[in-house]
Amino acid sequence: MKQKSYLLVTDLDNTLVGDPEALKSLFTFYEERDFNPGLIYVTGRHLHSAFSLIEREKLPFPDILITDVGTAIYHAPDWSEDKTWAAWVSETWLPEDILSLTKNIPAIVQQKLPHQKRISYTVHSGQPHIVDAIQSTLDTHNIPCHFVYSSGRDVDILPERSGKGKAVEYVLREYAKKDVRLLLAGDSGNDAEMLSLGYPAVIVGNAQAELSKLPSHTLLYRAKGYYADAIKEAWNYFYPTVQK
Ligand code: GLC
Ligand code: MG
Repeated sequence: MKQKSYLLVTDLDNTLVGDPEALKSLFTFYEERDFNPGLIYVTGRHLHSAFSLIEREKLPFPDILITDVGTAIYHAPDWSEDKTWAAWVSETWLPEDILSLTKNIPAIVQQKLPHQKRISYTVHSGQPHIVDAIQSTLDTHNIPCHFVYSSGRDVDILPERSGKGKAVEYVLREYAKKDVRLLLAGDSGNDAEMLSLGYPAVIVGNAQAELSKLPSHTLLYRAKGYYADAIKEAWNYFYPTVQK
């Protein structure tokens, strides 16, 4: 990936994935222009769930796959986990304490995950006060963590050193060309941090309302188009004349 001059760093569900025609047209657009960008997928899904989506939607395999809301990083071609990142984020991670403090909060359902890299809950819609209750329980007990609420439904409790933004920063620092040109793309609350890093970024037209509150920065583009069409729109906006 160090040789790539361009990178597409994108969320999957409801960003790259959502409109199969738009998806096809985005990759045709790259081919026609000989862009051949490096690909980094940044998803809330766990590894196997991300692979099912990649297969189902026939997505190209990325160079790097960041899963579980930025708590785990895997490298092509063998999908080995990035051990340095795993060790760094787990140093201050207390999943058992978090579980025992949160498991009896009413109206939340713990998501079934194959690991404890994060603790995630689904909150019944229309109950934002429950989200506040989870967060204040963790704060009161001084639990180091990174709290992410998205789509009016998902609560992800992550190691404090992790999250999509921090994971993307790490990957760019360690594995990208120094002057790489990139585009970040997302649609929901768990994308907010990576879209705020100060790099060219696009909020897709079909984004969740929670992203309308995201403070603007000069490189943040709010697309009219939906899903992969929004990525193409933003690519033309940021890199209009570049051929190769
Ligand atoms: C994806 C994941 C889910 C997570 C959510 C928000 O839907 O499957 O576990 O809570 O993203 O990050
Ligand atoms: Mg999404």
